[in-house]
Amino acid sequence: MKQLKHRDLSVLRFLLRFCLVTLVSSLTAFYAKKKLFGRKKKYPPGPWGLPVVGILPFLDAGNPASKVLELSKTYGPVFGGYLGGLYTVFLNDYDIIMEAFGRKNDVMSDRPQILPFIHYSRGQGVAGSFYHNNWKENRKFVMTSLNKFGVGKPVGHIADILETEIDYFLRDIDRRGKEHDIGGMVMMFSGNVMLQFMLGIRFDYSDTETQSYLDKLAELFALADPANPCVLFDFLRHLPYTSNRRFIGYCDEIMSEFTEVQLQKKLDALQMNRNSGLVDYYVSKFGDKETGELSPAHSKNLQHLVNDLLAAGTDTTTANTLWLLLCVIKYPEVQRNIQAEIDSVVGTARPPRLADRERLPYTEAVGCESRRYCLAGPFSVPHSATTDTDIHGYFVPKGSMVIANAWAVSRNPELFPDPEQFKPERFLTKDGKLKLDEKVLGVTFGFGRRTCAGRHLATAEMFLILTNLLYEYNLKIEGGPDSVKLVPERGLATRPHPYKIIFEPRNNSL
Ligand code: HEM
Repeated sequence: MKQLKHRDLSVLRFLLRFCLVTLVSSLTAFYAKKKLFGRKKKYPPGPWGLPVVGILPFLDAGNPASKVLELSKTYGPVFGGYLGGLYTVFLNDYDIIMEAFGRKNDVMSDRPQILPFIHYSRGQGVAGSFYHNNWKENRKFVMTSLNKFGVGKPVGHIADILETEIDYFLRDIDRRGKEHDIGGMVMMFSGNVMLQFMLGIRFDYSDTETQSYLDKLAELFALADPANPCVLFDFLRHLPYTSNRRFIGYCDEIMSEFTEVQLQKKLDALQMNRNSGLVDYYVSKFGDKETGELSPAHSKNLQHLVNDLLAAGTDTTTANTLWLLLCVIKYPEVQRNIQAEIDSVVGTARPPRLADRERLPYTEAVGCESRRYCLAGPFSVPHSATTDTDIHGYFVPKGSMVIANAWAVSRNPELFPDPEQFKPERFLTKDGKLKLDEKVLGVTFGFGRRTCAGRHLATAEMFLILTNLLYEYNLKIEGGPDSVKLVPERGLATRPHPYKIIFEPRNNSL
């Protein structure tokens, strides 16, 4: 009896094992079959992905966009695969990117369901807005506000903000002494520009509390790389000590302790003066005509707008400015050329102003080339398909993440001959005028319908920082130009590794 029982148990164990193995193999086979042959549509080609992680491990951690460009040599300019559980299509050719993102029907104008859009912007605002959450209306409102306050013009409200802020910035550079890392200061500069434009407030460069919120914002950008696993696996937020938890914690802190508080202060003291910034203008448009009171929906929308714009306009500008300054340190002859242009056009009696921009084409060309060459947003900002669609003859299902590989465009020798060389002259005509086209703007500021709303503001900020610093100082680095490596750290807006600038007052030769 005992023996029988023992044999029964063994049979039972065998049967259980058999069932388990059969179940697992059938599921695997079913999954693989569904994935491979269940598709009637012509999906983009792409590498075989691994279970769970998909093609994520094939994207080189150092420079995923360059790896994607390399893969496109095997699979073609449009290829796809799973990044974690999210089907993703990479576009590696300028014309194809424009074919996809430039369509008038907005099919490609959503944002994917990934960490930064779910938890920072909560799908609201403009830059991080999901398509259905008033994206179009909010974008129109922001563009109208920027134009109303004179963005891109050498005079007006925005010009006043910028030219006042650059004076504060220079005073602080002077106060900090001969050699320092200006990453935090540039973040404060661009943060102040955004806060002034929206809320009419600015913070001192010594305000450590504000600086710490901006540092957190910078860290969010560093984590929010679409090839970073934490961005793709939202369930990790349930586990302790993950980057996802840190990300979400910072999002909550910035929103509830900083932007909401500052916005509330502004609304409490509102003067109903529609000419003094974005928030006033919003209230004058959507608030009660007498009291300015906003409906709960408008109030929430405004909170998200302020939060979203602070992020869109701060770390991006900082990353690009840090690259720009590092480029002129790496190439001292370029630095000298800019100073010569400033000296001959502006003179030595006053610092450069926005009104000088048009007459400093070489300086502008250096800005364009540094943004192309160092490319702070190699994957631009990911888009998503609002519905099943096709790109360049390939089927792209609703909800797919679609990434324009700006790096691939920036390295295309047909568009930019000798792409690995730093050549500002590529953006000048033979007679020295600035020669810009949509391709280089797209590389930096995105392509098609969701292209950057703050481009003119950003380039004005970078122009002022560069020219005012080079008017006052020669910029150097310990170890000399040859020690400079233009190698990025990872992130949605990649920055150079932190570096300290030596500020040598001019009149000393370089
Ligand atoms: C050098 C600095 C900047 C860079 C490199 C940059 C780059 C970008 C990129 C690549 C996009 C995404 C385009 C796309 O989805 O295809 C974007 C969107 C956006 N940017 Fe900028 N940006 C910068 C500065 C600013 C500033 C100062 C503002 C302030 C107003 C701003 C506001 C926005 C907004 C509102 C969007 C969202 C557009 C939309 O989704 O419709 N950006 N930016």
